[in-house]
Amino acid sequence: MIKKLACKSGSKKISKEVFDREFKYMISDIEELVEEACKKDANIFGYGSWSHHIVGVVKYAKLLARKLGADEEIIELAALLHDYASVLDKNLYPDHHIHGARLAEEILKPYNYSQEKIEKIKDCIFTHRASKDIIYKSVEARIIASADAMAHFDNVNSLLYLAFVKHEMEIDEGTNWVLEKLKRSWEKLMPEAREMMRKRYAAIKIILDKG
Ligand SMILES: [Fe+2]
Ligand SMILES: [Fe+2]
Repeated sequence: MIKKLACKSGSKKISKEVFDREFKYMISDIEELVEEACKKDANIFGYGSWSHHIVGVVKYAKLLARKLGADEEIIELAALLHDYASVLDKNLYPDHHIHGARLAEEILKPYNYSQEKIEKIKDCIFTHRASKDIIYKSVEARIIASADAMAHFDNVNSLLYLAFVKHEMEIDEGTNWVLEKLKRSWEKLMPEAREMMRKRYAAIKIILDKG
């Protein structure tokens, strides 16, 4: 349930311990909100969009944030909310980066969360699908786009599920679709993310690529 943060992030009115504790409550609210949306029939991507995608995006985004000294609050909230619009309503999928940014503000504002951080989270969500040529406004935005792509390497089974079950592709068509998707994901990765995914990507190609 929504409970206002006792103060905005960075304010000196309350101790860091109190803010951290309340921030954890906010995170668990938002985890619940997104996971529940993923369970609903309206989510055409199925519950796997939570268990086999968003959870992985959060995991890799936090790993990269620690490695690069990024703002972990922005990272965790942006990763949790980056695909929220697309699981909520299939009609929002084509522009889910735009709707997701708008929805993130609607969700976070009632918590009295820092407007400055909300703007940064919105920017991360807005650019998470961008091509490799984009110039990101922040290291956090770069991390979210990379983590979104990294989760694909962690969950090849869910890509195969999408290809063969959801899209009903034939064997070669589905295999090529997965390999092409991973190739595009690889091109989106920042160098630190490539380092983390290199072995996994090589292993996947050995299994799926006939060479
Ligand atoms: Fe997305
Ligand atoms: Fe995503």
